[in-house]
Amino acid sequence: KVADRVFSGIQPTGVPHLGNYLGAIESWVRLQDEYSSSLYSIVDLHSITIPQDAGTLRQNILDMTASLLACGINPEQSVLFQQSKVSEHTELAWILCCLTSMPRLRHLPQWKVKSSGQKDEGSLGLFTYPVLQSADILLYKSTHVPVGEDQIQHLELAQDIARIFNNQYGCFFPIPKAILSETKKIKSLRNPVAKMSKSDPQTLATVNITDTPEEILLKFRKAVTDFTSEVTYDPETRPGVSNLVAVHTAVTGMTVEEVVHQSKGLETARYKYVVAEAVIEKFAPIKNEIERLRAEKGFLEQVLNRGAEKARELAGPMYHDIRKLIGF
Ligand code: ADP
Ligand code: NA
Repeated sequence: KVADRVFSGIQPTGVPHLGNYLGAIESWVRLQDEYSSSLYSIVDLHSITIPQDAGTLRQNILDMTASLLACGINPEQSVLFQQSKVSEHTELAWILCCLTSMPRLRHLPQWKVKSSGQKDEGSLGLFTYPVLQSADILLYKSTHVPVGEDQIQHLELAQDIARIFNNQYGCFFPIPKAILSETKKIKSLRNPVAKMSKSDPQTLATVNITDTPEEILLKFRKAVTDFTSEVTYDPETRPGVSNLVAVHTAVTGMTVEEVVHQSKGLETARYKYVVAEAVIEKFAPIKNEIERLRAEKGFLEQVLNRGAEKARELAGPMYHDIRKLIGF
């Protein structure tokens, strides 16, 4: 019986930022209860498509593990694992590469954006990155994939590759469906038309969930807004203030209307403190738990080893069937 199965991955960027949490991790935690099976992968193979220092990468994998656990990913309920420990991911990726055309990949936005800054247009790994993502999803016959808007085209690639495989080798993979994030993209606090991102070079632009209350206050105090002092929600004309409202609704569960109503008469300069306080309150217990878990290296490694074992138990038989279909 193929039950509904959720799969998603996150790069080992260390501790998640506000956008990662509100746009992805928070819904992963909810989906654990809603689906009969869920797999969450720390995608270290993806992360080396851009240069990484070995020691930093190793620490970032542990920090992301601690963070996911602290955010509420339950390793008894979900398979939480490190991608590179399950070799079938790269083996299936190779097979899928052989079914994917170069023009199909060349038009994906991530390649255009990330390769443009690199000399020689980026590596072959960066180019085939979305095929590895497809392998991640399909290896477990996943049926549902939580994605942000920016990832929809990559999921469409996985759907196309599944169809191509099924046409050639007989119906094998379910076509995975997107679970679109309800949370609006969280924007950079310094440039509220760009998304908040780990790779943003601007200091104070990105709030990490382990930032101290002082750091969080400072970052919100310095958040770019505009010359109107009222709190209103209009992402087109007032991206800065609207981003604050978006963060506020996401961390409190209030609606935009409720937030705007509650903030009547409040100047944006004052409102920034209200949002910062809400963020501090929301993340205080998670921050404490991350710090506690970070000190438990042995425990984190044990969680990852157990997760890899469980993932291999699923991937092994699946890949065995795939080999037979291919003719290996
Ligand atoms: P980053 O851009 O910081 O490297 P990733 O691309 O690794 O983040 O994203 C990991 C997950 O977090 C993805 O599911 C992505 O959609 C989500 N995510 C990243 N940035 C944001 C954001 N600013 N707002 C909402 N979700 C985000
Ligand atoms: Na990314």
